[in-house]
Amino acid sequence: MPIPQTLTIRRPDDWHVHLRDGAMLQACAVHTARQFARAIIMPNLVPPVTKVAEASAYRDRIRAAVPSDLKFEPLMTCYLTDGADPVELARGKKEGVWVAAKLYPAHATTNSAHGVTSMDQVAKGLEAMEKAGMPLLVHGEVTDPDVDLFDREAVFLDKVLFPLLKRHPGLKIVLEHITTREGVAFVEAHPDRMGGTITPHHLNYNRNAIFKGGIRPHFYCLPIAKREEHRLALRRAATSGNPAFFLGTDTAPHSTDTKECACGCAGIFNAPVAMQVYAQVFAEEGRLDNLEAFASLNGPRFYDLPPNEEKVTLRAAPLDVPETVEVPGLSKTITVFRPDTPVGWSF
Ligand code: NCD
Ligand code: ZN
Repeated sequence: MPIPQTLTIRRPDDWHVHLRDGAMLQACAVHTARQFARAIIMPNLVPPVTKVAEASAYRDRIRAAVPSDLKFEPLMTCYLTDGADPVELARGKKEGVWVAAKLYPAHATTNSAHGVTSMDQVAKGLEAMEKAGMPLLVHGEVTDPDVDLFDREAVFLDKVLFPLLKRHPGLKIVLEHITTREGVAFVEAHPDRMGGTITPHHLNYNRNAIFKGGIRPHFYCLPIAKREEHRLALRRAATSGNPAFFLGTDTAPHSTDTKECACGCAGIFNAPVAMQVYAQVFAEEGRLDNLEAFASLNGPRFYDLPPNEEKVTLRAAPLDVPETVEVPGLSKTITVFRPDTPVGWSF
């Protein structure tokens, strides 16, 4: 079948975004809001967003950072800490502030020092979420230093996620930014309770890219990209039309200087190129017909929200996006994710 020159779909949503705060938020919010109608906002600020009032104030700051001609709805999440308060979780959901709560194993990734040290510590909170119908979003990696970095997702599934599903039978869970075939299989095995998000970068390259001809900090994020067989499993899952898989960019801006240094930060800023890269992947797989399900239908279905009515059109044309975004408030730049392979879609 010839590849179409344009593709019109319902406006997509992004089910996993880091918008940061302050000057970074001012610089980044517009890029997510240009592409997506709604986004699940990660709560890993410093300090993390754990209270309803903090989330509500953060939502106001996000709305104020988005230009008024763009319609954008931030969907807020609660950062789970040891002893997470069941009352605060239930109240925030009832008041329409929390859409979900986020589980970071302590020290798994950027700004996760306040994360959870054991599932016993959040059992009461998770019970409240089960009752309130509030999904749990998980960063699915163990943090045991004895487990190899590339195995941390697969080990998490057996050691943490499977017991968690059994212990909290009413809880809906999203395995976020899946990077392994084991993660894909796990979500497929629990279709009525689980969703899985997949990033544009994990669909685009495998772990070789991080070391190609030298160390490439702009391909470094967590969970780290795995072997090619895993990338292929992610591509099959994302483009399959299976409603359990949906779009989550994990756009995670860090200024260029904090990535290009001796101990560079984990996180990839892909917001300006996200839909273009996803479209490229679906076109390469011959599954452009499933892009709308992945980007615009499966996520709302999981969260019990209506899909967006507005339509957007992608065009077959070379990627046309600046390589960096300025952060005027900090006199810094953020480097935009740039695949190593051609992207033939514009948005
Ligand atoms: C994220 C960040 O920078 O906040 N980094 C990343 O590599 N993805 C945190 C996260 O989602 O793990
Ligand atoms: Zn993230």
